[in-house]
Amino acid sequence: MEYRRLGKTDISLSALGYGTMRLPTIDGVFNQVDIPKAKELVRKAIDSGVNYVDTAYPYHGNGFSESAVKEILADGYRDKVYLGDKLSVWFCESYEDCEAFFEGQLERCGTDHFDLYVLHSLAGDLWEKAKKLDVFRLFEQKKKEGKIKYLGFSFHDSYELFQEIADYYPWDFCILQYNFMDTDHQAGERGLRYAAQKGMGVLIMEPLKGGQLANEAPKEVAAVWAKSKHRFSSAGRGISFVLNRPEVTTVLSGMNEMAQVEENIALANQCTSGFLDAEEEALYPQARAAYESLIQIPCTRCRYCMPCPAGVDIPNNFDYYNMGHMYQSMEHAKNFYNRPYFDPMRSTNCVNCGQCIDKCPQNLPIPDLLKKISEEWAK
Ligand SMILES: NC(=O)c1ccc[n+]([C@@H]2O[C@H](COP(=O)([O-])OP(=O)(O)OC[C@H]3O[C@@H](n4cnc5c(N)ncnc54)[C@H](OP(=O)(O)O)[C@@H]3O)[C@@H](O)[C@H]2O)c1
Repeated sequence: MEYRRLGKTDISLSALGYGTMRLPTIDGVFNQVDIPKAKELVRKAIDSGVNYVDTAYPYHGNGFSESAVKEILADGYRDKVYLGDKLSVWFCESYEDCEAFFEGQLERCGTDHFDLYVLHSLAGDLWEKAKKLDVFRLFEQKKKEGKIKYLGFSFHDSYELFQEIADYYPWDFCILQYNFMDTDHQAGERGLRYAAQKGMGVLIMEPLKGGQLANEAPKEVAAVWAKSKHRFSSAGRGISFVLNRPEVTTVLSGMNEMAQVEENIALANQCTSGFLDAEEEALYPQARAAYESLIQIPCTRCRYCMPCPAGVDIPNNFDYYNMGHMYQSMEHAKNFYNRPYFDPMRSTNCVNCGQCIDKCPQNLPIPDLLKKISEEWAK
């Protein structure tokens, strides 16, 4: 296993880290983690060299991932790893809430400190809210108390906001969504380079787009991989792409089967930084183009069509529909589309007013497309 220095700190993390957002569950029930199985998987990874475990309060709902981590890291395993947790400010309304949230996390995880602590999932208004809640005062206090060692943020918004946040505070690291389909999405490639150039460690989340890139490649994409000299699975293609990047400290992977743990450890052993040669690297943009050729609705997400008077989030409806077709993951995409929080934004709310049609630079017949999605997908 390769170990990579976390930015300018004096610690090194394993190239593969264990994300506990998708632990195995009992009968697929989201908040019932299958503890014996999770223990076996995570400990196997640790015994094979993984030294970073990542958790957060919302994973598996209301701290269930954190309390699973406590059990998983019992029997001396806590001392073998660096542990990371996150301040999810959307659960807090005051400084005191943030402090209570943090202390609750230490207790649930059964630890007296977090090695890495993360201002969680910054996007939209959350950055402004975090500053308003005075989270940096809290972080400095908890650092003084020895309860936080290194500080970072995780991010899901535009490159411009990423740069603003990266420049605001002397962060030790950041967590970015990055995979070979998302090089121009969110912070993207530019964010990865910017963070590394500033001397920040970079942890990567969603290297397989939440598992979608692990699905069997459609024939258009398989034809690209046929030109490669490596015989990787779909997951191997995605994970090796990220491990290859010298700017990346650690690739976080959520693994819920032993075969996945074993495969990803083997990949982390094989794919050291700079492992892919130029010919191999050149295949990834080709694979991306092959996936993109499967897009059904050529929406560019410019959002000129928004706001919709009926509240429909037009680009996101199109995105889910396209994802289902591109990644052979119709059920996965439908689950996103049918999540309760998406109720007011779902295509079914379209009243066919037609206001969006003239605003679309791609001239998409938006109401017809929304109707098609509703007919095919609505519960
Ligand atoms: N801070 C944030 O805002 C944030 C957001 C997202 C994630 N994260 C962190 O980043 C971690 C990684 O993100 P992620 O879980 O979305 O990563 P991911 O690697 O993109 O997706 C994980 C899924 O990929 C599949 N998978 C992994 N290895 C595989 C293999 N070898 N073969 C086949 N399938 C494989 C599994 O899907 P199946 O379940 O279908 O088997 C697994 O659940 C999370 O666990 C979490 O700790 C943080």
